[in-house]
Amino acid sequence: MGGTNGHVSNKRLHGYNRSCGESEAIVISQLKLWQPKGTLHVTASSAKKILIMGGTRFIGVFLSRLLVKEGHQVTLFTRGKAPITQQLPGEADSDFSDFSSKILHLKGDRKDFEFVKSSLSAEGFDVVYDINGREAVEVEPILDALPNLEQYIYCSSAGVYLKTDYLPHFEVDAVDPKSRHKGKLETESLLESRGVNYTSLRPVYIYGPLNYNPVEEWFFHRLKAGRPIPIPNSGLQVTQLGHVKDLARAFVQVLGNEKASKQIFNISGEKYVTFDGLAKACAKAAGFPEPEIIHYNPKEFDFGKKKSFPFRDQHFFTSIEKAKSVLGWKPEFDLVSGLADSYNLDFGRGTFRKEADFETDDIILGKSLVLQS
Ligand SMILES: NC(=O)c1ccc[n+]([C@@H]2O[C@H](COP(=O)([O-])OP(=O)(O)OC[C@H]3O[C@@H](n4cnc5c(N)ncnc54)[C@H](OP(=O)(O)O)[C@@H]3O)[C@@H](O)[C@H]2O)c1
Repeated sequence: MGGTNGHVSNKRLHGYNRSCGESEAIVISQLKLWQPKGTLHVTASSAKKILIMGGTRFIGVFLSRLLVKEGHQVTLFTRGKAPITQQLPGEADSDFSDFSSKILHLKGDRKDFEFVKSSLSAEGFDVVYDINGREAVEVEPILDALPNLEQYIYCSSAGVYLKTDYLPHFEVDAVDPKSRHKGKLETESLLESRGVNYTSLRPVYIYGPLNYNPVEEWFFHRLKAGRPIPIPNSGLQVTQLGHVKDLARAFVQVLGNEKASKQIFNISGEKYVTFDGLAKACAKAAGFPEPEIIHYNPKEFDFGKKKSFPFRDQHFFTSIEKAKSVLGWKPEFDLVSGLADSYNLDFGRGTFRKEADFETDDIILGKSLVLQS
């Protein structure tokens, strides 16, 4: 990776639609020319200089649009592997070009800690949204670079909670220091111990258009093919999904919010749902007939490295009461309307992240047929 001083980092800061080779003068003039337009929710003086770590895959795509609309100056820090802007299905040309003209990009790898430190200290951001951080070591250089940071807003995960017989998970509940999300926990502890004004959101399963995690897509592929839906065990396992646009609104609502200072909030949908209920909700949302559901005992199968189902096979859900009462946030999407939004703007238009793969289904169905005969 590149240089270790502010000069280099400034050269790397450019609008998405400008090539990397463009001069610093253009970069700086764009920064100076930046003016919030349209309906503003913030005054010029309360507009923040915001850095989003990430921002081009899923959550960040919706969050950055909201922040730009609110009049903030938003820079995305990414490696530039994914396009910095992409027009969303259903997004008006004018909205897209407005967003594209205002969003800024700082190109780099966050694992290059020296570059992170030099480029961020040269820029001096007010607020960081860390959407893609997984390990505490990736956060330290950001804090080192920005001693006057007003707020660090972190995307954690409900995966940090210790598995329990007592549900839903509340923010005060025991956490699992050995879970695969332990880096999220260590990051929350680091933010606390360094005295940072932080806010951490813990989403459960996230769904919505552009979802990289094949959650609803897994059901839509099977529904479209008219195939039965294989669900492990009873199908009565209870889980929770939150729409990405509701999560993005929660991220905006904690910005500059004193009530969110040094706080952690679960963010997800209002209702819990069983796996069977989710299969039916996907069918309803997308206009398919109610599916045939096949239950199987996963212990009877060896799928090798393949995943036969996109959720952990357990009850897993949180209380979102704290976010509702403290922030006044509440989800706008119920499950069926949220799934319809996802279907209509994504899968229903022929776009998805993973090709249909029914190999494990066929193994399950083959065995089920033998068992039934
Ligand atoms: N999916 C769920 O159900 C769920 C549940 C709970 C929590 N979460 C959390 O949600 C977050 C993921 O959200 P998202 O993918 O939608 O976020 P996003 O910010 O929209 O996208 C991820 C971004 O990270 C950038 N990136 C990846 N590696 C990088 C690196 N080494 N240096 C710089 N940039 C890098 C990618 O761009 P480039 O590739 O171009 O660099 C991309 O812009 C994670 O923190 C995850 O733990 C997800």
